[in-house]
Amino acid sequence: MAAKEPISLQEIPTTGEERLVTRMEEFDRVLGGGAVPGSIILLGGDPGIGKSTLLLQVADRLSQFEKVLYASGEESLHQIKMRAQRLKAKGDPSVLATTRFFELQEAVLSMNPAVLVVDSVQAFYKEDQEGVPGSVAQLREVTAGLVRLAKDKSIIVFLIGHVTKEGIIAGPRLLEHMVDCVLYLEGDRYHSFRVLRGVKNRFGSTNEIGVFLMEERGLTGVANPSQFFLSQRSGGRNGAVATASIEGSRPLLVEIQSLVTVSNYSSPRRTSAGIDLNRVALIMAVLEKHAGVSFVGLDTFVNVAGGVRLTETAVDLALAISLVSSLKSISLSEEILIVGEVGLTGEVRPVSRIRHRLNEGMKLGFRRFLLPHLNLEELNQGQKTLPDIQLAGVRTVREAIGAALSRQ
Ligand code: TYD
Ligand code: MG
Repeated sequence: MAAKEPISLQEIPTTGEERLVTRMEEFDRVLGGGAVPGSIILLGGDPGIGKSTLLLQVADRLSQFEKVLYASGEESLHQIKMRAQRLKAKGDPSVLATTRFFELQEAVLSMNPAVLVVDSVQAFYKEDQEGVPGSVAQLREVTAGLVRLAKDKSIIVFLIGHVTKEGIIAGPRLLEHMVDCVLYLEGDRYHSFRVLRGVKNRFGSTNEIGVFLMEERGLTGVANPSQFFLSQRSGGRNGAVATASIEGSRPLLVEIQSLVTVSNYSSPRRTSAGIDLNRVALIMAVLEKHAGVSFVGLDTFVNVAGGVRLTETAVDLALAISLVSSLKSISLSEEILIVGEVGLTGEVRPVSRIRHRLNEGMKLGFRRFLLPHLNLEELNQGQKTLPDIQLAGVRTVREAIGAALSRQ
């Protein structure tokens, strides 16, 4: 067998990076402006969150100008048809119901589609391999087979993977290193709101998110997520604080809610939905040590309205104020927006892109802003004046509590 000759980097022909766009803006954005031919994209998420729905919509869109094969090992042809009707699908993708990898491969080779959707990796198995569908060995084999198909035939492969409770062993995590992109569809099943998040992307940035609502006719993109989240506000009640988090390239305005109440248990309960519980614990510790607040004997519940998950430390200060607001039963003005990172010594640290956050806030009617002192200086250096708004810069959490919660 002839050895493969290395080739000089300069001589490799550049292929213009042509991306396939779905024109579902929120979806294309997360992929970095569309899908790259020959790439394999893993879509993970809890069962029932909307993965099949999203990719059937994508298949439907793309089939209007490309050859698309939708292969399902989870649903019958009839079930897929019913879903398509519900989605008012206008395209005409080819559909295959099977769980056998080689059957799928044969169909792909004879049809030669530009796009292949596989629902789901856990349902398929290679007939010549040991193990039941969904076992670690089969997951690896099936994925490896699909990666080869994608690369050899320059097909875009979308692969669905369920996140199981035991996630780490049987779920998409195991496959992340084998694929080009990993997207997760997140949200609370009982809310209509969904976030599509990129966690790995060989062809783009991973900090973009796509925002959708699950409606009667499938997932629809939300062009103005801040407006949506703020419509979920409780506004002006104890423990409710609005903040601006930058998710991807966009500022997102959301309300953080806390409930701090006397505990009936020997070890108080601490729960959080939407913010990492470790971060909540850290902020509570800082408040205890540096702001003279005590949570001893109190249950603490934290929630982000609308079911979104925040990952940015710029929401620390809003969380801190929200906790103290509930604890002391003092509500904030509805007009105030709070941003700032909190350090371990109780200092309030500056956040990135402060102007973006303020502008989004002003657009949605906020008139008072509590922000890190250093960000305020940064703003004052800019020559542009900000009309009709009130800015308060703070250096410490203690100072912030005074500024936000002093009874007017
Ligand atoms: P599904 O895409 O089947 O989830 P997954 O593939 O991630 O397991 O979607 C499941 C839920 O979505 C189901 O409970 C019904 C709901 N749904 C809608 O609300 N609107 C729709 O148009 C569709 C197709 C589903
Ligand atoms: Mg499904």
